[in-house]
Amino acid sequence: MSASLATVSYLGATILFILCLGGLSNQETARRGNLYGIIGMAVAVLATVFGPRVGAAGLPWIIGAMVVGGAIGLYAARVVQMTQMPELVALMHSLVGLAACLVGFASYIDTSIAFTGAEKTIHEVEIYVGILIGAITFSGSIIAFGKLSGKIGGKPVLLPGRHFINLIGLLIVIYYGREFLHAHTIAQGMMPLIVMTVIALAFGVHMVMAIGGADMPVVVSMLNSYSGWAAAATGFMLENDLLIVTGALVGSSGAILSYIMCNAMNRNFISVIAGGFGSDGSAPAKPASGAEPAGEVTPVSATETAELLGEAKNVIIVPGYGMAVAQAQHTVNEITKLLREKGVNVRFGIHPVAGRMPGHMNVLLAEAKVPYDIVFEMDELNEDFPDTDVAMVIGANDIVNPAAQEDPTSPIAGMPVLEVWKAKTSIVMKRSMASGYAGVDNPLFYKDNNRMLFGDAKKMLDEVLVALKG
Ligand code: TAP
Repeated sequence: MSASLATVSYLGATILFILCLGGLSNQETARRGNLYGIIGMAVAVLATVFGPRVGAAGLPWIIGAMVVGGAIGLYAARVVQMTQMPELVALMHSLVGLAACLVGFASYIDTSIAFTGAEKTIHEVEIYVGILIGAITFSGSIIAFGKLSGKIGGKPVLLPGRHFINLIGLLIVIYYGREFLHAHTIAQGMMPLIVMTVIALAFGVHMVMAIGGADMPVVVSMLNSYSGWAAAATGFMLENDLLIVTGALVGSSGAILSYIMCNAMNRNFISVIAGGFGSDGSAPAKPASGAEPAGEVTPVSATETAELLGEAKNVIIVPGYGMAVAQAQHTVNEITKLLREKGVNVRFGIHPVAGRMPGHMNVLLAEAKVPYDIVFEMDELNEDFPDTDVAMVIGANDIVNPAAQEDPTSPIAGMPVLEVWKAKTSIVMKRSMASGYAGVDNPLFYKDNNRMLFGDAKKMLDEVLVALKG
């Protein structure tokens, strides 16, 4: 493939990636967006592999690596559960970081292109910064994977004087950066490069270890952004325009997503990164304060739930992580269809951080073929709860916790929540009194107008469906 054809292909791929991002921002166009992304990536890979920079000798290596990598990717995509998606994403980010490090070292020892003067300095800065971001992304993502998969506890690990430790690390990195740029030989430059890499790896571990379970979604999105910048840095090292553009797209969209998620959790981005909030998210947590649950709850049966739903005119369903675990979305859709046939106005209220990844609930509801036009963002229907007969909470907890508004001392104080307790009756469907991801008790359960339907969401909803049909 000629150089100009490769450039045109890269341009086409860039446009497809932008169309992909645009499509993914809305569930109705998400499939199309995904398709654009697939085509764009196929064009990009083909243009690179058969482009002017890869000689015939390199082809078998690349194709061999693609077959192995593709097989692993295909296997992972098939076996991974929807609920394990965030940890898979974290693992993928670590690979981007690792690639940036490896490309950085390879570029440095590659003597086939001789840079001189300012070009040499720019190239070395690219290598140093690329490896720095790559190493932080790599180790940070591995720790994020460990935390999300429950292999490492979710509690923040706060070393004494941790900000001071980070500052010292930064100063050493700057000092060795100077040494690296002044090195006369590759052997001389290797030592500062390795020291910086070790510090960056340690920083990635330290940074993510200090962040608690409840802030992990922001961290994953932030690492997503880092992986984009690492890819962009790799693009500079390899003089690959497409990688630079794609990396910048991922880097900036990840940063915007982190910002949106911080807003949705009412967390300040800097305080998230500074760490320390949240508790062990790997297992159903106990109330964070250790306080006994405040009050009595009113349990209901599936039949009573069906009666309440059948008599209602307006119903809002609030799905959460438990619906994903129970894979109850198809039964939810059946119930929705039945109620709508009976003339009940059924809508869905989606919290921006419901579940364990952005858009988690939207994906599940779309999979179950719930009509898009009855699925609303939190802000679109939060004011409608007082006019709602039944608010049905399916496996959600933190996102409907009134303590966020009522208790300024709560760890989730200020987080926007769906105000289900303002409905005439709220029904919370979950297996026990265990708290949600943030590990805080939920006063909603003890409100007079709240009912608890205990049990696995799928099993209970199946029973509700049978009762509704009956
Ligand atoms: P959570 O607060 O985690 O609550 C989920 C509830 O589902 C749990 O209390 C659990 O109670 C119940 N549950 C679990 N399995 C169930 C099953 N099989 N059947 C019925 N119920 C089941 O979830 P949420 O309300 O969706 O809030 C999300 C939380 O996760 C937030 O704190 C958010 O910050 C955090 N987070 C979000 C993301 C993103 S980006 N969405 C990523 C990571 C973390 P039982 O054990 O009693 O059943």
